[in-house]
Amino acid sequence: MADGSAAESKILAAYRARTPRAEALARQAREVLPSGIVHDSRRTWPYSIYGDHAAGSHKWDVDGNEYVDYYGGHGSLLLGHQHPQVIAAIQAQLGKGMHLAAANELEIEWARRIQAMIPSAERVRFTASGTEATQLAIRLARAATGRARILRFKSHFHGWHDQVAFGVNDHLDGSPSVGVLSEVAAQTALVSPNDVAAVERLLSEHKDIAAVMLEPIGSSSGTIPTSPEVLNALRELTSRHGALLIFDEVVTGFRVHPGGAQALFGVTPDITTLAKIVAGGMPGGAVGARKDILDWLDFDVAASSKRERVNHQGTHNAHPCSAAAGIATLDIIRDSDACARASALAAKLRAGLNEVLEEEGIPWAIYGEHSFFHLHSNPLGEAIRPTSFDARKLTIEALKGKDERMLGKLRLAMLVHGVDMKGFRGGIVSAAHTDADIAFTLDAWRKSLRDLKAEETLPKIAAAAGA
Ligand SMILES: Cc1ncc(COP(=O)(O)O)c(C=O)c1O
Repeated sequence: MADGSAAESKILAAYRARTPRAEALARQAREVLPSGIVHDSRRTWPYSIYGDHAAGSHKWDVDGNEYVDYYGGHGSLLLGHQHPQVIAAIQAQLGKGMHLAAANELEIEWARRIQAMIPSAERVRFTASGTEATQLAIRLARAATGRARILRFKSHFHGWHDQVAFGVNDHLDGSPSVGVLSEVAAQTALVSPNDVAAVERLLSEHKDIAAVMLEPIGSSSGTIPTSPEVLNALRELTSRHGALLIFDEVVTGFRVHPGGAQALFGVTPDITTLAKIVAGGMPGGAVGARKDILDWLDFDVAASSKRERVNHQGTHNAHPCSAAAGIATLDIIRDSDACARASALAAKLRAGLNEVLEEEGIPWAIYGEHSFFHLHSNPLGEAIRPTSFDARKLTIEALKGKDERMLGKLRLAMLVHGVDMKGFRGGIVSAAHTDADIAFTLDAWRKSLRDLKAEETLPKIAAAAGA
């Protein structure tokens, strides 16, 4: 058995042979960009592909390779790449001007769509990203409650600003990550995912908690899933204790349902953060909330109630091109079965990927709900069967210690066979994917697993495991 070292990896050699231009560009990138990249989660060993163009569910790199794309613009492209109506809307706006530094009709139209679709969005404020939306939501929650602390769940991701930059992949003890002040970290209470009892205890014992904030389908798009029962319990507890409930629907908004997770599960938060799909693949985000909460931004309300208002600026808030793309996208989602279609395709893909794992005898699992699929590479070596794996039992502990070197190879193998997953963590399915894409992906998955087996010692499903 080969030791799998990079030097003799056939997978690595095949990747390099297919991507010479990307390798050269990656060398240049390192001269100007730390690690040669612009987003931590796009880090790819030994270097990333360099995208060139895309259409529908496919994209092409600068070396001329074609991929079925499950990265989906980091989740912003539910309708796939280059949807003609979305592109036409952006082009129409481009022809009129990029930034008019004036109020714009499109921002009213865009906000109206959000108001109509997202149950909690009585009023809307636009931001330039999801990170900005969660930052503003936290500020509004503090202003509206007069309380300081935010209760978050370990591993739930809310962007990269200081108040949410720890307790996701690292610093799960709530200590500040490098560059973040301990005074800032001290204003966060971190509890384990789905630990409703801990939330109840903290809310009862500490009257300084302004809001409970979470990804409503669980951390990182459901990597550790949550449940409607948990959402209902959090709704009841926050209301009872005078704290606000913030749903971070940056990923789930307009994806798991046209009205987001809150419409799907019938649980209405006080504040909702949106980005990605809301701006149709362009940069943009939004906070939707009850009127009395967003009134903290309102000049007249502040004057009449003789209180200081919450400040909020942003050069690119409701950028006209983002507004145009957002309106076109939301209209299609409202009037079509795009969400349901993407979810159904993802369910089919998950089932197929698990069947391949089972046939190949590998005790890993593909799981997830809606239009997501996640890879559980079973780092603790538990006795699982791919086709009957129950992700609701997953804990942070069960996900820890994954073999990133080997998974890095698996990612390369999938690229070599024409599939771009979201790193080695899984992927996102769009409404533009097809049954042919799924068949192609299953074939690539089997080939990739076999390539990996040829140079790595993979675990085997034990005869009676979980049967
Ligand atoms: C749930 C969630 N919240 C917030 C963010 C941050 O959004 P952005 O990358 O637009 O800043 C992300 C980004 O992936 C996200 O997944």
